[in-house]
Amino acid sequence: MLQETLEHGRRLTDAALERLIPAETQHPVSIHKAMRHSVFAGGKRLRPVLCMEAGRMIAGSLPAGIEELGAALEMLHTYSLIHDDLPALDNDDLRRGRPTCHKAFGEAIAILAGDALQTQAYEALARLRCPAESRVRIIEEIARGTGTVEGMIGGQVVDLEAERSKPTAEMLEYIHRSKTAALITASLVSGGLYAGATDDEVRKLRAFGQSVGLAFQIVDDILDVTQTSEQLGKTAGKDTAAQKATYPALFGLEESERQADSLVKSALEQLQGFGERANTLKELARYLVERKK
Ligand code: IPE
Ligand code: IPE
Ligand code: MG
Ligand code: MG
Ligand code: MG
Repeated sequence: MLQETLEHGRRLTDAALERLIPAETQHPVSIHKAMRHSVFAGGKRLRPVLCMEAGRMIAGSLPAGIEELGAALEMLHTYSLIHDDLPALDNDDLRRGRPTCHKAFGEAIAILAGDALQTQAYEALARLRCPAESRVRIIEEIARGTGTVEGMIGGQVVDLEAERSKPTAEMLEYIHRSKTAALITASLVSGGLYAGATDDEVRKLRAFGQSVGLAFQIVDDILDVTQTSEQLGKTAGKDTAAQKATYPALFGLEESERQADSLVKSALEQLQGFGERANTLKELARYLVERKK
């Protein structure tokens, strides 16, 4: 059941990405090759799946065209990964089982490929097939979630500035909530908005997203310690080597796992009011902490 949800979501997202990102033969070819190299490298597509399943929960069935919203979220996520891997940031060589964008295309094209995925995402968002008022709210939600105030970029800034320091628990939580949970939350909320969610439903999706999003990044930190590079498709053990501010570094593995579990528990409670319709999102929440890559 869960495997089917993930697989179906991935297929829908990939087909939309295929339509939305210019072909490799489109001039100037180097940038389109670079964008496609990173996007079509086998990511889990979790943000699109969360978005689409939030939309399905609110509307009762999958809203037509929502995969374009999922694809836009995936482009923004991939842009964040390309930039995260740059020598000036985490300096990684391996991503999604392939050489990182800058390793394959050089730094200049990698920076531009990240930028280009971001602009391409907003072009797709502007064209979403939902009422104009929802579209504007979706764009605002996603721009904030990836921005500098408690959004992805803000989190990345503090993540970098916290290297080689011993952060407080509060600072660490700020980093993880901002760099990762904010875009996951925006994915769930925007999926809900696309499906016409009420303010109360949006509040519940937001609370759910904030908890599973933080749990997701705690698990990312744990996997960096417990898995191999082959398994992850990205360099394992990087966080310890770079002296990153992570949950295992501050709390140890066991306590980090306990915190991730308890966050998922409280996330599940947020969805009680949706009854059976929330089953798939609940399954996904558990998967986010049980995953092995
Ligand atoms: C990795 O995200 C970066 C984080 C925010 C932790 P994912 O684990 O979703 O990576 P992909 O998309 O599957 O490659
Ligand atoms: C990245 O966090 C979060 C982003 C906003 C991309 P990490 O630096 O831990 O992600 P990985 O482990 O390289 O995928
Ligand atoms: Mg990083
Ligand atoms: Mg990184
Ligand atoms: Mg990581």
